[in-house]
Amino acid sequence: MKKKIALVFGITGQDGSYLAELLLNKNYIVYGVKRRTSLIHTTRIDHIYKDVHLKSNLILRYGDVTDFSNVFNLIYQIKPDEVYNLAAQSNVGVSFELAEYTAQTDSIGTLRILEAIRILDKKRKMKFYQASTSEIFGNSPEKPYNEKSKFEPVSPYGTAKLYSYWMTRNYRDAYSIFASNGILFNHESPRRGENFISRKTIIGLIKVLKGEQKCLHLGNLKSKRDWGHAKEFVNAQWKILQHKIPDDFVIATGKNHSVKDLVNLVLKKLNIKHKWKKDKNNLEYAIALNNIGQIKKSQIIVKQEKRYFRPNEVHNLIGDSRKAKKILKWKSMINFEQLISEMIDSDLKSIM
Ligand code: NAP
Ligand code: GDD
Repeated sequence: MKKKIALVFGITGQDGSYLAELLLNKNYIVYGVKRRTSLIHTTRIDHIYKDVHLKSNLILRYGDVTDFSNVFNLIYQIKPDEVYNLAAQSNVGVSFELAEYTAQTDSIGTLRILEAIRILDKKRKMKFYQASTSEIFGNSPEKPYNEKSKFEPVSPYGTAKLYSYWMTRNYRDAYSIFASNGILFNHESPRRGENFISRKTIIGLIKVLKGEQKCLHLGNLKSKRDWGHAKEFVNAQWKILQHKIPDDFVIATGKNHSVKDLVNLVLKKLNIKHKWKKDKNNLEYAIALNNIGQIKKSQIIVKQEKRYFRPNEVHNLIGDSRKAKKILKWKSMINFEQLISEMIDSDLKSIM
């Protein structure tokens, strides 16, 4: 039987690496798009990538979704069965500083891929997956969020992603392209970028324990997120494209926790006893109650800092993925504590 060909934009990212593993295990030929960077950063996929001169089912090509001729040529040359658009400036906080670039990548980048498919795939055989996000719900009041909830994004990232969500639907309706949105809630893993809260907290507190860093500085501790495991969430991405019709699905665990819960859990797992206090500006900080590692009793180990607060914030995300459960038979199995434990174990191994 002819092997299926997948084209993955964003293969060097957290999800791209897990998705590539999943597709290779399913016997796909996987083309991954990597950006030109001054230092090569393919660490997340090095374990599955063979030398370019060896025969391999994983092939890397240079590309960038801000370059239409590149996107067009890749789709023209590769003729994939499935296209996964995971490419994005994916940091919400950074999107306030790089608003235009975020739009170029997260909005117009998607349009470029959709246009290339519309022009090139006359027989409408290609399937397109768009990495949509719970950020498009913003602070919309009715929770938990499902496929029918109102969209009220509150960041340049969320707004850019909402454009892509609608374009994906528009191209499906107007041109009969098999184009689907996965509206994924936060998902983490040992491969998570180091400036997202889960990984920043874990790495930061391990460094505090080792005496390599005095204190962990964070922003908003009150916001809540529905955190799942990336490995399970990429499985949902694949399932969305295997469904007989194109459609949009919320992918979430259905449980949420605050950032403070996350920090407390990491401290507990590292055996650091602590107590929270407030300073005169109402900013919170945690002090150690025991001597452990290089930490001394009464040392400030976590501190809120104004510069890590965002100009606007999504306060409380929680998803309802009953549609995915019913139609795709997808369900999250790894809970918050298991996820954080796996991430801590992995970072302890590499940092200690
Ligand atoms: P990530 O780790 O930040 O990976 C993003 C990927 O996109 C990287 O491979 C990155 O390349 C690539 N990229 C960035 N700008 C690009 C451009 N202009 N052209 C081509 N590639 C570009 O993000 P992730 O966590 O894997 O998330 C994957 C996708 O799902 C993203 O679209 C994200 O917005 C979305 N999403 C993520 C979550 C989550 O909680 N993780 C939830 C909902 C939706 P470099 O390695 O060169 O930077
Ligand atoms: N990154 C970060 N750094 N976040 C902090 C910090 C800090 O120092 N301090 C507090 N936070 C809070 C943020 O304000 C936010 O409320 C929460 O921690 C989670 O932040 P992130 O881990 O950066 O994730 P996010 O929820 O903003 O965005 C992630 O999930 C989206 C899906 O809901 C990203 O993966 C997006 O790409 C994704 O679409």
